[in-house]
Amino acid sequence: MLLPDTAARTAGDRLSVGGCDLVELAHRFGTPLYVFDEATLRARLRGYREALRQWPAGGEVLYSAKAYLGRAMVGILRDEDCGIDVVSGGELSIALEAGMPPAWIGFAGNNKDAAEVEAALGAGIGHLVIDSDHELDLLAASPRRPSAGALVRISPGIRPDTHDFISTGQLDSKFGFGVDSGQAMVALRRAIGVGAIDLRGVHMHIGSQIFDLRCYPAAIGIAAGLLAAARDELGFVARELSVGGGLGIAYTDDDDPPTPREFMSVVTESVGAVFGERGLPLPALLVEPGRSVAGPAGVALYTVGGRKEIPGVRTYVAVDGGMGDNIRPKLYGARYQPMLAGDAERRPVETVTIAGRYCESTDILAHDVELPRLVPGDVIAVPASGAYSLAMASNYNVNPRPAVVFVGDGRARLVRRRETLDDMLRCEVG
Ligand code: LLP
Repeated sequence: MLLPDTAARTAGDRLSVGGCDLVELAHRFGTPLYVFDEATLRARLRGYREALRQWPAGGEVLYSAKAYLGRAMVGILRDEDCGIDVVSGGELSIALEAGMPPAWIGFAGNNKDAAEVEAALGAGIGHLVIDSDHELDLLAASPRRPSAGALVRISPGIRPDTHDFISTGQLDSKFGFGVDSGQAMVALRRAIGVGAIDLRGVHMHIGSQIFDLRCYPAAIGIAAGLLAAARDELGFVARELSVGGGLGIAYTDDDDPPTPREFMSVVTESVGAVFGERGLPLPALLVEPGRSVAGPAGVALYTVGGRKEIPGVRTYVAVDGGMGDNIRPKLYGARYQPMLAGDAERRPVETVTIAGRYCESTDILAHDVELPRLVPGDVIAVPASGAYSLAMASNYNVNPRPAVVFVGDGRARLVRRRETLDDMLRCEVG
C-alpha cells in the first residue's frame, strides 16, 4: 500500500490518515501541506530497531536526517530509542536543539569544514564519519582529547541497481576512500594515529532507493576483507560497522520493495557469515535509514486549480505546489501516484498530467496518471512524499515552503508553519 499504515476511508468516502480527514486538513492548514503519520514513522523505525536488538554485538539505528528533519521528528526518534545521522552543522544544530543526546549522533558528509568538525567534537557526538584526507587534517589539528568516536567511510566499488544520481558506492564517487585503490587502508592507518578521535571501524553507504538487496552482502564482503587486512597489517580490530541506508520504498503500485526487517536480515546474516569466515569479532551494527522511514509516512496535499486540454495531445491539471516542494520527478525521474483525497465515488475516467505552479515547463509532478475528472478546489493526495521532498524544497519563484502536520489518533498538530513573505524577505539587506 502506498498510503501510510493508518490510512482509511471515512464515512463520507474521503481519505483519512492517523484518524484525520485529509480534505479537512487541507482546508484547515492550507495547501500544499505535508502530512506525516506518526504511527508509520514509529513502525518503520521499530522494524530496524527490533532486528538490531537480536544482533549479539548490539548497534544503533541512526535515522538519516537529510530525508526529512524537524523538531517533532527528533522527538519521535528519541521516543523510539533511535539516534540520528547528520551531514551538516545545520542538521547537527537542529538535532541538538531538539534534545537528541549527543552520543546518539553520527556526523557524515563529504566536506565538513573546520567549524563543523569543532562543533561536533565540542558537542561530544557519538561519532564522526571521516570522508577525506582534508577531514583527517582538520581532526589531526584539533587539540581536543577525549575523543569522539570515528568511522572511516569506504567506497566498496559496488554499483547498486538504482538511479545513477543516487548511487554512491561505486569507485567513481565523491564519497569515501576506495578499497581497491588502497586508499581506504592508508586512511585507516592515518586515522588510528589521530588523537582527537577513537577509530571504531568503517562506514559505507552504497546508494539509495535500492530494491535488490544483493549489493549489501557484496559490499559487506569487501568491508570484511579490508578489516581483516587492517587487523593483520595494522593490528586494528574494528568494533563498529555502518552499512548506511538505502532501502527503497514504493512510490507507485508497480514498486514492491523489501521491508526494513528483510533488509536487516540480509545485513545481519551477511555480516555474521563473512566476519566469522575471516575470524573477525562481530561488530556493533549501525544503520542509517532515511527514505524508508520518512517516505511512506508522508503524504503531500495539493489543491487543484486550472486545466489545459490540448486535443489529441495531453491534458494538464495544475496544482498549487510543484518543483519548489518536490524536485524529485525532475531531478531523478521519480514517479508518483496522485489520488483524489475526497469523494472516492468518483472513479478514474481520464489520463492527465499533474503540473505544478512554477513558471517552468519542467515543473511536472506526475505524468499520465489515471484520475477522476478533477475540478478546481479538489484536493489531491500524493503518497510516499515524506522523504527528500520538503528536505530539498526551495523558494523558487518566491513561493513559501509548505506547512507540516503530524497526525495520530485523530489529532493533527502543526509542527512547521507555512513560510510567509516576511520569512522570505528577511535575508534581503540594503
Ligand atoms: N547515510 C548516508 C551517508 C547517506 O548519504 C544517505 C543518503 C543515507 C544514509 C540515507 O539513505 P536512504 O535510506 O534515505 O536511502 N535526494 C535523493 C536521495 C539522496 C540520498 C543521499 N544519501 C532522492 O530524493 O532520491
